[in-house]
Amino acid sequence: MLFFVWLLLFPIVTAFLFDTGFDLDHDQPLDPMAQFQAGLSPFKQSVIPPRKGREDYLTEFTPISNTIVQSELQLYSFNVNTSSGLGEYYQLLIFLTGNLCTQPSNVGLNDTSLAVYYSFNASMFTNFELGQMELFEAGYFQALTDVPIVDSSEYEDSVLYIAVRAPENTDRTANWTYQIGVSQNDLVFQWDDRPSAMVVDTDEQSALIVTNNLTAPHSSDLSRLNISKSPYSLLVYSYDYKDYFASLNCSWCAIRDGPALLSSSEINTSYTTRNGGIQQQFYVSNLNSSTKYLAYLVSDFGGNSFGGAIYQPLEFETLDSPACELIYDLEFCDRVAYSVPTNKDGSKDSVKQLYDDQAKNLFTNFSKALQQIACNTTADAVFSPVRTCEDCADSYKDWLCAVTIPRCSTRNVTGYKYRETNDSRNDFILNTIEPNLPYYEVLPCLNVCQAIVADCPADFQFSCPKKNVSIEKSYYFDLGGRYPTCNYVGTEKVVSSRGLRNTVNWLLLLVVVAANVLV
Ligand SMILES: *[C@@H]1O[C@H](CO)[C@@H](O)[C@H](O)[C@H]1NC(C)=O
Ligand SMILES: *[C@@H]1O[C@H](CO)[C@@H](O)[C@H](O)[C@H]1NC(C)=O
Ligand SMILES: *[C@@H]1O[C@H](CO)[C@@H](O)[C@H](O)[C@H]1NC(C)=O
Ligand SMILES: *[C@@H]1O[C@H](CO)[C@@H](O)[C@H](O)[C@H]1NC(C)=O
Ligand SMILES: *[C@@H]1O[C@H](CO)[C@@H](O)[C@H](O)[C@H]1NC(C)=O
Ligand SMILES: *[C@@H]1O[C@H](CO)[C@@H](O)[C@H](O)[C@H]1NC(C)=O
Ligand SMILES: *[C@@H]1O[C@H](CO)[C@@H](O)[C@H](O)[C@H]1NC(C)=O
Ligand SMILES: *[C@@H]1O[C@H](CO)[C@@H](O)[C@H](O)[C@H]1NC(C)=O
Ligand SMILES: *[C@@H]1O[C@H](CO)[C@@H](O)[C@H](O)[C@H]1NC(C)=O
Ligand SMILES: *[C@@H]1O[C@H](CO)[C@@H](O)[C@H](O)[C@H]1NC(C)=O
Ligand SMILES: *[C@@H]1O[C@H](CO)[C@@H](O)[C@H](O)[C@H]1NC(C)=O
Ligand SMILES: *[C@@H]1O[C@H](CO)[C@@H](O)[C@H](O)[C@H]1NC(C)=O
Repeated sequence: MLFFVWLLLFPIVTAFLFDTGFDLDHDQPLDPMAQFQAGLSPFKQSVIPPRKGREDYLTEFTPISNTIVQSELQLYSFNVNTSSGLGEYYQLLIFLTGNLCTQPSNVGLNDTSLAVYYSFNASMFTNFELGQMELFEAGYFQALTDVPIVDSSEYEDSVLYIAVRAPENTDRTANWTYQIGVSQNDLVFQWDDRPSAMVVDTDEQSALIVTNNLTAPHSSDLSRLNISKSPYSLLVYSYDYKDYFASLNCSWCAIRDGPALLSSSEINTSYTTRNGGIQQQFYVSNLNSSTKYLAYLVSDFGGNSFGGAIYQPLEFETLDSPACELIYDLEFCDRVAYSVPTNKDGSKDSVKQLYDDQAKNLFTNFSKALQQIACNTTADAVFSPVRTCEDCADSYKDWLCAVTIPRCSTRNVTGYKYRETNDSRNDFILNTIEPNLPYYEVLPCLNVCQAIVADCPADFQFSCPKKNVSIEKSYYFDLGGRYPTCNYVGTEKVVSSRGLRNTVNWLLLLVVVAANVLV
């Protein structure tokens, strides 16, 4: 109850705690022991006692890895630093987190996992009922405790006692590998089940994946960021592992150290500002055609041995023919990142260059025309109070790139246009790119056209088709669904917020990202 009072007194702390997902038990404490005594406990048998005097000492933000066999008990202690952490300002809070790296193969989704007991009373090592208990779920455990304030002298040497206990198992050698970390500042292990990355596009043997916007302390100055210091990495698993992590899907170490097909050393990563904000992109190559994969974004806090976070997995599937090739990071058409019709004899870099040069050449005459318009004169001479010549040039460029560089797929999706090798959108593709396999063309989205009408001076007399019949000859609409039904080139449309869910430690993560990452 003391804790609750503090919450009322310090709204800042309240907000912080709410965002970390610890809003659960403080006003209505669960009684783990009631559950224990009601016979729900898997620990009815006597336990294998810990080796005497062999408790391990945990230190701030330094997780320990250990293996525990069934019915075993392992002990830890943590010396509270009374002049550190949140306690400097309010009260001494201690964050406990753990990950399961491996578990016995005969443990099912609903079987009870390891239990963690914790208390500031040393007698807990002999009587667990003195401690609080938390179970590992989905490979993850977290708890928050505050140092009891009795009097200031007791503050000096507060020790948190922690015990990890394995359930019984019919297999006597059954064992779990776990990590446990304690900190006075943050969660050593975290997870987030909201989308944190997306698949941009795939071709026959590669895929491009980007993270959500990252928070960076220095605006969008990419040159100040060093990608090798990014905590984010990507792991690509065979789709066969879809259920493998079902009971460990919140565990960073299970996925981080699992049997991935491809990991960071084989994935080309960089930052991009293609959509306005800073995002990290991962180019995964050497994939098999027509194959489904799972990709996990993970974040490491200060290297492999200091904890980290795991995010919701992504699924993607490669295309079934080499008719399309994934290109990105073009110099002129810098917002283009998708598969394009190609000739399988051409190298990726040469195809990318051909398209980019073509768009750049076509843009030259337009930019001359734009210079004739009074853009940089006095405010009332500007063609529109809200749109500038830069907006017009930007929208025109995006439109030009979208129509010059068609998006390619080998899937038959509503809205896609089937192209035989002798039937291309224009002579440039027919004669210069020379596609030698049939493909489907993903038509540009109608709003790419509508953007230039809205952003450019009326003098240009841009217009977009209005009737559905004429629209569908050159554009299409975004119908939603698994695959894009039209090709959008431009800064990302703002996706409506789905409201804050308080089950996860997302804001806390952003704090970590801002503090540790992009410096
Ligand atoms: C306790 O925390 C303070 C402030 O962070 C630090 O200076 C000090 O070294 C820590 N003491 C120990 C014993 O770790
Ligand atoms: C696990 O429990 C849930 C609900 O309690 C149940 O729907 C599900 O079938 C159980 N799964 C297994 C594998 O026993
Ligand atoms: C620890 O628990 C024992 C048994 O309940 C109790 O007698 C003792 O006073 C407790 N110690 C502290 C410091 O609270
Ligand atoms: C842990 O379990 C694996 C099989 O899951 C077994 O091969 C190994 O011997 C066990 N280790 C111990 C220390 O019992
Ligand atoms: C980025 O960091 C790595 C290792 O920390 C270093 O070797 C490299 O020189 C840095 N690159 C730049 C451009 O600063
Ligand atoms: C990553 O991409 C860059 C630029 O395309 C290239 O120079 C580099 O060799 C690639 N690295 C790997 C490991 O593929
Ligand atoms: C990413 O940041 C850019 C620039 O700040 C913004 O325009 C865009 O809407 C952001 N995207 C998302 C999904 O928030
Ligand atoms: C591609 O397929 C081969 C043969 O089935 C397999 O050995 C290899 O691991 C696969 N590679 C990837 C990246 O899926
Ligand atoms: C793990 O799986 C559970 C149940 O399917 C789900 O509720 C949870 O959000 C998943 N966690 C992550 C990090 O994806
Ligand atoms: C650009 O304008 C010049 C002169 O008006 C013309 O000859 C040329 O064909 C135009 N280029 C394009 C790509 O339209
Ligand atoms: C308008 O002025 C800005 C800065 O003064 C310059 O960057 C931009 O190129 C100019 N625009 C045109 C169309 O001349
Ligand atoms: C694509 O699918 C549509 C509708 O299912 C069908 O009418 C059309 O023939 C298909 N195109 C090709 C080339 O198979």
